[in-house]
Amino acid sequence: MRIAHISDIHADTSTAFQKRFRDLLQSIRTHRADHLVITGDLTDKALPDEYDTVIRILKEFDYSSGENLTVIPGNHDLYPAVYQSFTFRLSTLREEFREDPVRITKELYRVLRAYRKFTPQTYRDALRTFVAHFKWSFDDAMSFGTEKTGGFPYVKHLNDDFAIVCIESNYVSPHIKNFLPYALVKYAITKDMFSVTDSPICSNGWIDTGLFEQALSHPAVKNKQLIVLLHHYLYPEEHGLRYMSKDFERTMSLVNKDEFLRVVRESNTAMLLHGHWHITEAYSICNGTFTALNGAGSIREDNGKWNILDLSANKVNIDEVHMS
Ligand SMILES: [Fe+2]
Ligand SMILES: [Fe+2]
Repeated sequence: MRIAHISDIHADTSTAFQKRFRDLLQSIRTHRADHLVITGDLTDKALPDEYDTVIRILKEFDYSSGENLTVIPGNHDLYPAVYQSFTFRLSTLREEFREDPVRITKELYRVLRAYRKFTPQTYRDALRTFVAHFKWSFDDAMSFGTEKTGGFPYVKHLNDDFAIVCIESNYVSPHIKNFLPYALVKYAITKDMFSVTDSPICSNGWIDTGLFEQALSHPAVKNKQLIVLLHHYLYPEEHGLRYMSKDFERTMSLVNKDEFLRVVRESNTAMLLHGHWHITEAYSICNGTFTALNGAGSIREDNGKWNILDLSANKVNIDEVHMS
């Protein structure tokens, strides 16, 4: 069985996006994948037109059932009030701030006001919207969650040996809520968005490890090798710092990563797939015990790489595909 992994397509309605997404799906079709996994940030601002665009193109390529498509949400799908208020590019925020501090300060003020509108209920509504849009892809999945968690985590059986575990890693973190006043005071003093605290832009992650453990202990899951999907990355600290500063890393990371990895270590996990940091690469975690695969660079024009996983009875092989 062959699984294609992509992530962070950040759909918009432009013709440029539609062309890039079709080219990517054409490349996946050419490499004869049986199943496509997309690990979050399917939309950029969770707008209805963005959902319509991504679903229409997926259906053009016959991804219209849970048999060949598995998706999980990312922070951009679940915090529309925050991301709809951005007009700057997050990736160049520091440079833009230096060039035009007045404009960026105004923008940030608007973002922080958008955050004030955020409540756990708005998060849950956005999660329900995401699941409703892709309901057909969850039809054959076993749910281990509740209505509050949008049914996450879900488990899908791929074959006699392998199952996919779909985790929601964007849950409202108690940590985020507790530290928001501190984040705002720190920002007011230092004018540094990337303060040593939690993220006021909802880009940190948090996983309900109790629900994850429940899914793992189910008899139908216990004896399978698991492909675990989450949106947030699992880089060991020194690896993450190759790409971003320590403070920036703290606004993007999985708050309870160590707790999550403790559960992973006890499980039958074969591989972890994620997105969020926009590059495509495989790397080792837990001192080489597991391989994690970041698929988030797949749609970018300057990258054009995606990965295909070949599942045999005891092993998962990864092949990196370079689009021409
Ligand atoms: Fe993303
Ligand atoms: Fe993300």
